[in-house]
Amino acid sequence: MNFDEIIDRKNNFAAKYDELKQKFGRSDLIPLWIADMDFRTAEPIIEAIKQRADQGIFGYTSRPDSYYEAVCDWLEKYHGWRPEKQLMLHNLGVVVSLSMLIQNFTQPGDKIIIQTPVYYPFFDVIKNNDRSLVENPLKQVNGHYEMDYADFEQQAQNGAKWFLLCSPHNPVGRVWTREELQRIGEICLKYKVRIIADEIHADIVFPGHKHVPIASISPLLSRITITCLAPSKTFNLAGLQASIIIFPTKEERDKFDDILGVLDIKRNSCFNLVAVEAAYRQGRAWLENVLKYIEGNFKYINDYCKNNIPAIKPNYPEGTYLVLLDCRQLGLDQKQLHDFMVNKARVALDDGFWFSNTLEQYMRLNAACPRHTLQKALQQIAEAVHTLQTENI
Ligand SMILES: Cc1ncc(COP(=O)(O)O)c(C=O)c1O
Repeated sequence: MNFDEIIDRKNNFAAKYDELKQKFGRSDLIPLWIADMDFRTAEPIIEAIKQRADQGIFGYTSRPDSYYEAVCDWLEKYHGWRPEKQLMLHNLGVVVSLSMLIQNFTQPGDKIIIQTPVYYPFFDVIKNNDRSLVENPLKQVNGHYEMDYADFEQQAQNGAKWFLLCSPHNPVGRVWTREELQRIGEICLKYKVRIIADEIHADIVFPGHKHVPIASISPLLSRITITCLAPSKTFNLAGLQASIIIFPTKEERDKFDDILGVLDIKRNSCFNLVAVEAAYRQGRAWLENVLKYIEGNFKYINDYCKNNIPAIKPNYPEGTYLVLLDCRQLGLDQKQLHDFMVNKARVALDDGFWFSNTLEQYMRLNAACPRHTLQKALQQIAEAVHTLQTENI
């Protein structure tokens, strides 16, 4: 586990590198955007895939019960929640699940609440399925994002039927507390708002914070919640296309299973099958180490900015490996800031406005990379800021 190792991803068909030109117009950028890690995953996962590859037969695959048991054991051990495995289904990615759930479990025109700023595909899965998007903006209280319960209740009163929860929250880095989730959950129960909980970042949580699956809080909340989670962020397995949905009832689980059947996408990769089980059974030590390393990166980013780029103020995420950079003091508008990061600092970051127009002067930085990569990127940003400030004098 040498997270300092710089791994050349040039032949890795990595979207983060290979799509730079398409996304940012140039390829000579340090890529700190799309949310995967530049680290090699846990050895037991690699070993499980190698062993499966060695069998040399890659025919139609059946998913054993042990797959779901591994997920249940992990959830029980680390999140204090043991859903029944009969209520689970495997699917490709979490976003696929969100879109399919919205398509098949909600009605055209249904109002669906999201808490902005939020992971931008949340907007797409609602709008592209002809549902009505309702924003419940998060409030900044002393630089800390909080839920606006009064506004949420108003939206619920106005007829919102579904709530797409992001927990922990990308991009603001909050790990919602039990009390916060309980309070929002009570409003959902009161107004019969169903919850789809995207808990993909559940395991990327730092000391002092604890992820609480909203469905685990009470039997009542469990009954109105569909939870989507995955080992992809946790173990850097996004390319293996594996995620899990946990339904409140067998009826809803079976309904979704039928939809997977219609699309004929039940029998996918024989590799994700073994990788997910190995991850949840043998990956914990790797995860604990990578979290420590990433926390070190947060500290590095905060110290570096304080000492060298005081005009940029990073947050210190409670969860997720995504750091929000408050760039308001640079005095650039959204287009100028994008141009500055790409063409002057030569770094590829997620533009804040992708998540909400309130973040037009923010950037999101993916800190799951070797420290040396961060050092280089921050140094390039510092030099560009220095030039900008000198020009402005
Ligand atoms: C909140 C959230 N949901 C879903 C995803 C993507 O999940 P998947 O690749 O399984 O579709 C991400 C990736 O960054 C995310 O942040």
